[in-house]
This record gives sequence, C-alpha cells and structure tokens, in this order.
Amino acid sequence: MKLTKDDLIVRKKTGPKITMLTSYDYPTALLLDKCGIDVQLIGDSVGTNMLGYTDVAQVTVADIVHHLRAVARGAKKSFVLGDMPFGSFNTRELALKNADTFMDEGADGVKIETEKDAIEKIYHVASTGIPVCAHIGYTPQTPGLSVSVQGKDIERATELLRLAKESEEAGAFMIVLELIPEKLSKLITETISIPTIGIGAGRYCDGQVQVILDILGFSEKIFRHAKKYADASQLFSDVITSYISDVQNGYFPTEKNSSTIPEEIIEKVSSLLDSNKRT
Ligand code: KIV
Repeated sequence: MKLTKDDLIVRKKTGPKITMLTSYDYPTALLLDKCGIDVQLIGDSVGTNMLGYTDVAQVTVADIVHHLRAVARGAKKSFVLGDMPFGSFNTRELALKNADTFMDEGADGVKIETEKDAIEKIYHVASTGIPVCAHIGYTPQTPGLSVSVQGKDIERATELLRLAKESEEAGAFMIVLELIPEKLSKLITETISIPTIGIGAGRYCDGQVQVILDILGFSEKIFRHAKKYADASQLFSDVITSYISDVQNGYFPTEKNSSTIPEEIIEKVSSLLDSNKRT
C-alpha cells in the first residue's frame, strides 16, 4: 500500500524515524521501494548530480517532470515527493499550476524551498489539498547563499524557528531542515507538530534525507553531513573496465550468450547468397 502524508505525520509520535532518499530514475525507484524507503525525493539536485548542470537554478519544471514520471512508475509504496525548482513558484498562481502538474505526473506531494516569501505559496498550494513539504535552513535555490550551516547567529536562528512555525501554520505536512545546528533543529522539532527531516541537521529530527549518490559513493566530495556506505563508483569502474577488456580480448560474448539457428536454415541462406552472386 502507498504511504500517505498521514502515515508520515503519525510517525513523529509513533516512530520509527522517516527515511528519505533522493531518487531520479526507474531502476533506483524500484530498488528503493523494495528496500522499504519511506519517501523518494525527486530533488532539484538532479541537475548537478544527474544532468551535469553547474547550478540547481538551471533545473526546469520539465526536468523534474521527466524524472518524476520515471520514479513514480517504480515507487509502488514509497511516497513520491517532487521538488519545485528555481522560478517555479515565483507567484502563488505559478506555484499551484506547477504543483498540479507534478501531482498529475505521479507525485504524492511537493517540496518548496522556504524563505519568507514562500509561506504564502505554501498556503495557496496546501489549501487545495496538495501535500506540501517545506524546506528551511540552507536553501540551494537562494541566489548568493553559500553552502554553509544556517542559524548560528540569533537573527537567523530566530528566523528559522519562525519559518518552521509559519510553514506548519500555512499547511505544510512535513519540513526538511538542511544544514542547521543540531540543538536548533532539536528545538524546531520539539516546537512544531509536523515531522522534521534532517540533512546536516543532527540526530534529533523525525527523519533523515540523503542524496543517494553520496551514500552509494558516487560523489567525488563527501560532505560532513553524509555517510559513504559503499564505493559504487569503484564497483562501476571495475565492471566497465572488465567489460571493455572482455570484448577486446574476445572473452565476451561466449557461446552461452549467443543464440542458435538450425544448420539447414543457415545453409539455405548462404546458398541464396551464392545464387545472388552468380546473377
Ligand atoms: O534537491 C535535493 O536533493 C534536496 C535535498 C538535499 C533535501 O533538496
């Protein structure tokens, strides 16, 4: 059965912690679903991780839709969350139009990066019944914001707490806390009644999210907030170089990888070739 937003909300009280990973394609979506991940996020990180863009601001609604469709086909149980990319929620009307598109294409909810002017957009979208996940702290779509822990000073810490409360009041059902000091994210988690999902926000959130390429070991840089569980990059290179070597040395394909044809057919085909040559 598909996880719903209510199933996720209740986990704040009952546990276990909510697990979320980014997901960008069909085979990965199938695998994540089979492993029992709760939420598959088609993050705008698809731009820098999968599409070779230099900035998440280059990601379009069409990019997210393309990957969202693939993930939605594979995610039979996980909750599918579509990330609203840069520029897709500049006005309330645009936010709702694009959120509607994501829902039509298979999303179970949308995520909106939440600085002050996003609150009214969260309200506008959530009040139509679309599940909205807010996202505070380090918000990569904010122009000029460097990758850094947010909320270390009194002004920003107060602002983040206020944004979290306002997101809940605006109707968000869940909230991502990115790069926030552990004690502040604990305070936020204890203050609001919707689940918090941390990335670089310490141990006390109601769930955690990671970029899948980071935990698999595909990313060149390992951030402090990430854990590399395997070296999939090395595994893939070993496989690919073995394939190249096998093909070049005649070890692949073998007879086992090939199919057969009755001898009389091949003889007839080759005699046709001979008679064609004569005419
Ligand atoms: O786009 C993304 O991958 C995200 C996560 C880091 C939360 O927004």
